[in-house]
Amino acid sequence: MNTGHKLKLQPGGRQQEVPAGAPLQDVLFTHGVEFPCGGRGRCKGCRVKMLSGDLPVGPEEINLLTAAELTDGWRLACRHQMAGDLEIELAQWEMPVLGDQSAFNFIPRAGLGVAIDLGTTTIAAQLVDLKNGNVLAVSTALNAQARLGADIMSRIDCALRDGGTELCRLVRAQLGQMVKQLLEQAGATEPVVRVVIVGNSVMHHIFCGLSVAPLATHPFEPEHPGRLQFTAAQLGWPLPGPVSIEFLPCLGGFVGSDVLAGIVATGLQESRDLVALLDLGTNGEVVVGNRDRILCASTAAGPAFEGARIAMGMRAATGAICAVEARAGVLDCRVIGGGEPRGLCGSGLVDAVAAGLDLKMIEPGGRMMVSPAMSLAGSIALMPADVRELQLAKGAIAAGLCILTARLGASPEDVQMLHLAGAFGNYISRASARRIGLLRLPLSRIVPAGNTALHGAKRALFEDPAAWDALAQRVEHVTLNEDPRFHDVYVEEMPFPAHAF
Ligand code: FES
Repeated sequence: MNTGHKLKLQPGGRQQEVPAGAPLQDVLFTHGVEFPCGGRGRCKGCRVKMLSGDLPVGPEEINLLTAAELTDGWRLACRHQMAGDLEIELAQWEMPVLGDQSAFNFIPRAGLGVAIDLGTTTIAAQLVDLKNGNVLAVSTALNAQARLGADIMSRIDCALRDGGTELCRLVRAQLGQMVKQLLEQAGATEPVVRVVIVGNSVMHHIFCGLSVAPLATHPFEPEHPGRLQFTAAQLGWPLPGPVSIEFLPCLGGFVGSDVLAGIVATGLQESRDLVALLDLGTNGEVVVGNRDRILCASTAAGPAFEGARIAMGMRAATGAICAVEARAGVLDCRVIGGGEPRGLCGSGLVDAVAAGLDLKMIEPGGRMMVSPAMSLAGSIALMPADVRELQLAKGAIAAGLCILTARLGASPEDVQMLHLAGAFGNYISRASARRIGLLRLPLSRIVPAGNTALHGAKRALFEDPAAWDALAQRVEHVTLNEDPRFHDVYVEEMPFPAHAF
């Protein structure tokens, strides 16, 4: 007897068993989804995108949604019942994907270019007029591979099972579709002459159709770290005429071309002073250097900065507590999109621990002094194990910074400018990062650098690929856990500072 169907919600991956025939509106309401017109099919505020399963198109959807939205799988949740297993993405839970509008110098060229930052979770792409550098259209999306595994390790597992064929097919098809959408959005008449893609080593290998096996076993080095070039026909992309599609080179281990692009975006390779670039994620990337020498490393920070493995953690999407402040001894929480909190994201976690330290609810060693948990807002609380996860993450990053600066004969305090790349770096409170001992520099020397990967990819559209290859060769990759000091420094860096400084 069929008693129910499986429902999976993205982003976040929550799953539940739902009785057959249950209205989707009732089910989603329990997850905090709002139905602005009361579920009458008049507002499209309840849009969901089918990732798997089937929701047949109804008359209200034909009225309210465009043909492109319907083809992409968008439906009105309030018009459907559970008639089979379903995986959907909720528009109300959309994660802000960081774009880039920063200016830079370039030599004009003919035609159009597309810059793509291919992240494990999100993808950002921009169509650029190469004559004047203007961004003509922007497209962002959740990486379609997410349905086969949320994080980098599960993508590797998945790729090892079938040789990466399905992940490769998914991502090539998605990027081709995004390029097509960019051209439609801009009403472009000129041809695309160049596409530059950057991403981490795993995304590089999967997109390029390379085996990820070398990334899964010691010494975890990419098989073909170099820049790879494709034609539109090879990828099945709808681009007429000659177009060069390049995935920029990896730097080694788990440090990909997104970091190479970040180096160029921040100008680190031309700096006289010692400069650092940090990308805080499950795989934290650290770069330290100047015009004379550049070192890079990846460090397994764990997923705490992305809100994962945190009891009530979630990604930085609608409903996440993203900021916590201690005001007159009381915790004040900000929720993305307002409304009831659904969980705690990475920036909220860093803030919550910083506030807990100030209020003496958390000891410098990491012990929580309130039991059983530190209440934040609504039903959301910080658990003792969450504090431990953050200690592991911040210890790994701080140790990476110590080891790399030491190899350059310096210390983390000698860094004159520290660029925080990516979405998390953009939203994290620099003061809280200092309070928990993740960063020790004065605030004036810590700058959120935005989407440096996308910015760098855009610059690469105008530049000689050989110069990028040469820079990639210049950057020295350090395998942190082979450094005899790494374990000791990691353990030393785990406690929090006793006082704000
Ligand atoms: S709630 Fe308005 S269309 Fe569904």
